[in-house]
Amino acid sequence: MPRLFVRAALLFALVRLLSAADGAALYKENCAACHDGGADRAPNREALRGMPAQRVLDALESGAMVTMASRRTAQERRAIAEYVSGKALGEDVQTTPPATAMCPANTTAFSSTEGGLWNGWGVTLSNTRFQDAAAAGFGAGQVPRLKLKWAFGFPGDLSANAQPVIAGGRVFVGSDGGVIYSLSASTGCIHWYYRGASTVRAAMTVARIEAGSGYAAFAGDRTGNVYALDAATGKLLWKTKVDSFPLARVTGSPQFLNGRLYVPVASGEEGAGSSADYECCKFRGSLVALDAANGKQIWKTYTIDEEPHPTKKNTAYERRRVLVRPGKSVRSKTANEPNAPKSPT
Ligand code: HEC
Repeated sequence: MPRLFVRAALLFALVRLLSAADGAALYKENCAACHDGGADRAPNREALRGMPAQRVLDALESGAMVTMASRRTAQERRAIAEYVSGKALGEDVQTTPPATAMCPANTTAFSSTEGGLWNGWGVTLSNTRFQDAAAAGFGAGQVPRLKLKWAFGFPGDLSANAQPVIAGGRVFVGSDGGVIYSLSASTGCIHWYYRGASTVRAAMTVARIEAGSGYAAFAGDRTGNVYALDAATGKLLWKTKVDSFPLARVTGSPQFLNGRLYVPVASGEEGAGSSADYECCKFRGSLVALDAANGKQIWKTYTIDEEPHPTKKNTAYERRRVLVRPGKSVRSKTANEPNAPKSPT
């Protein structure tokens, strides 16, 4: 028993350490520009350290800083609050949907022919984004008379960005918290949910991988992962990282055609590039074609041909070299430096 206790304590300490490291990086990326940079009225690091963790969290979730943290997941907001205050929060956030939100067991069948259809971002391959009266079940004249049938709240999230998709009598939608849901289109109950690695911002796509196979629901996330989930059950069929660049993300909707999934790949490097410490820019956007049956890459085409390579060193780099001394903070010396000049492309 004592050994088990020691292990549990070590694990707990490790989790705390990891979340502290996470909090530091998130703070640097999302908050430091103002709070370390002497922005008007923004409390400095010392003032933030004097606050209870819960007060920082409240500022991020319902106070003055809501817009600064609306893209962060519940766990990320908590990691930031614990890091800046240097204190632990109380209870863990509850992001597991309650049992009462789940559909009754006898309603789990997925029927590809049932209900309306709004599949993918654009509905058709040419992105018409048009729903005719036959598919919708009513005409344009009835739109002003629509009433709310049900509403669904994503547990732990402050915002929702992904366009929901309708297929097989279900709503498929990913969330800022990285959870992918399959809901009943008629009642909003949850058929299944799948916990992905990160925020899902793009519309999903539902398709039959090949004749005779079941239907898959495809989604991309903010860390460059693409998922294929069994549309009926939510079981993971495959998961592929489409780009190894740390800031790579999938924010465009995957598109399915003839057994292939086409995935646009972007990154959040413009955010990192606003820091004078960051060696910018190293990412190229791309379009990737995956085998929809197993997630293997068939080809990848970059949106620009030229490979990223160092072009010049800016003044921030030169000054940093001069200013780095033992015991001195590099960040505080360079925080107000101008950004790297844009390279002539
Ligand atoms: C664009 C600048 C900016 C960014 C980015 C920013 N803040 Fe702030 N923050 C401010 C300013 C300005 C205030 C003072 C607001 C006021 O007085 O109304 C403030 C106030 C606060 C407060 C005090 C709220 C209170 O209850 O008194 C906290 C805590 C805080 N920020 C945390 C954060 C965290 C954590 C982040 C990163 C997720 C962040 N801020 C990002 C500018 C910013």
